[in-house]
Amino acid sequence: MRILIVGGSGYVGSLMLPGLAARHEVRVLDPAAPPNRPEGVVHLPGSALDSEALATALDGVDAVVHAAMGRRSDVNWPHPDLARSFEVNVASVYATLEAAHEAGVRRAVLTGSMSVFANAPVPLTERPLTEAVEPDAADVYGVSKRLAEQVARIAADAHGLTVTVLRLAWPTPDAAWPLWALPVVPDPIEVTRADGTRYPALAASDLVSAVDAALSRSGGGYEVFHILGEDDSGRCLSTAKAREQLGWVARRR
Ligand SMILES: NC(=O)c1ccc[n+]([C@@H]2O[C@H](COP(=O)([O-])OP(=O)(O)OC[C@H]3O[C@@H](n4cnc5c(N)ncnc54)[C@H](O)[C@@H]3O)[C@@H](O)[C@H]2O)c1
Repeated sequence: MRILIVGGSGYVGSLMLPGLAARHEVRVLDPAAPPNRPEGVVHLPGSALDSEALATALDGVDAVVHAAMGRRSDVNWPHPDLARSFEVNVASVYATLEAAHEAGVRRAVLTGSMSVFANAPVPLTERPLTEAVEPDAADVYGVSKRLAEQVARIAADAHGLTVTVLRLAWPTPDAAWPLWALPVVPDPIEVTRADGTRYPALAASDLVSAVDAALSRSGGGYEVFHILGEDDSGRCLSTAKAREQLGWVARRR
């Protein structure tokens, strides 16, 4: 497949690029260049808020993956810039999907987040969350990701696109797994449940296989999936829908 990755130069983009570039023809639309750009990946410097840049980048591709975020992970965390958050996390999703429709690109995958759910008073790792549960986050980031999902659903309905949102949590390089090596913190973080047991992060290789499965998803329309490190306790954070409908399972477990 020929794929455009919008915002492919960030943290999550960097986790996806080598694996996707090994299987697909990949170009990246991002103001920043991808660090350690894999051979064959084409970087188109530009913004997803610029309709001309989007039209050029989408020309001739089969699918678009949106992985742009309103601030780099290493700036201001955990205090996102309000305007940039909505501009990139929501408006650029709208612009990307409208431009995809205009360009005849029928498939899109969005990097969503489990942060659509509130992490307090009950932490995410303790909540029995399936895709059927209504998101309830009220912080800037969570609200922007909830709105992005609405935008995606609207585009799928209005234009007949196949749009898949992958709600990620704790994506990490394979080398750091099962820890979460978020670039904003000096040392990898161990995600734990309330009882102190470790909750595994999402390995980059598992992220790539989820994106791959979403790119070829049958059925059309809008769908959302939880893509997480596997919680073998079965207590919470279900990935059952991804297993059943995408045939995806975290191999790193
Ligand atoms: N980092 C995590 O742990 C995590 C967890 C769950 C979900 N996600 C999701 O993954 C996606 C990417 O997050 P990240 O951590 O890689 O963010 P990041 O800040 O590291 O990277 C974002 C990238 O988007 C680019 N960008 C910003 N504005 C743009 C624009 N207008 N047009 C094109 N590109 C633009 C930036 O230059 C940067 O390269 C987001 O959708 C986020 O919600 C991340």
